[in-house]
Amino acid sequence: MHKDCERIMLTEDQLRSRVKEVALQVDKVYKDKCPLVVGILKGSIIFYSDFIRFLTMPVELDFMAVSSYGSGAVSSGKLNIKKDLDRDVKGRDVIIVEDIIDSGFTLACLKDLLLKRGAASVCIVTLLDKFERREYDIKSDYNCFLIENEFVVGYGLDYNEQYRHLPYIGILKRSVYE
Ligand code: IMP
Ligand code: MG
Repeated sequence: MHKDCERIMLTEDQLRSRVKEVALQVDKVYKDKCPLVVGILKGSIIFYSDFIRFLTMPVELDFMAVSSYGSGAVSSGKLNIKKDLDRDVKGRDVIIVEDIIDSGFTLACLKDLLLKRGAASVCIVTLLDKFERREYDIKSDYNCFLIENEFVVGYGLDYNEQYRHLPYIGILKRSVYE
């Protein structure tokens, strides 16, 4: 285990089997469609690449990079789009793949935006759900793990751009960020 982690919350085996289970559920539901699978950079990259490999229908891949300002305490939060989609979402069935839903601000904004752009449907797939922290009225349609309110890293998730490459989800030691 990395020295900055307090403990491993989810092992590689747990991640592999649960991601497969969720991907196969999604695969069944979308089997006659050609969804646009939108990964939210950078946190979703490892989850995204594991998830899409279980899909058997034709899919198109696309990515967005966003950052949120003022989510949480400040109510006038705004989503900043750092990289937008290449594809037009009009009339498309969109599957958003995101690492974690925390306050819900990012995904509430993104779903709203893609529907406003004319997506036929928007489905949200998340690896982790910190359900205790929710402030916005938004739910994942498919979520792999409900987790307690701890700051986690690895499997794509970072702290200050570090730890994304760890193959497991670890709880970061408080001493690293306090
Ligand atoms: P939300 O907009 O409050 O739902 O925040 C979602 C974003 O916050 C995620 O996409 C992550 O980038 C980040 N985030 C929230 N909790 C964690 C964590 O425990 N580790 C790493 N990133 C986190
Ligand atoms: Mg993120």
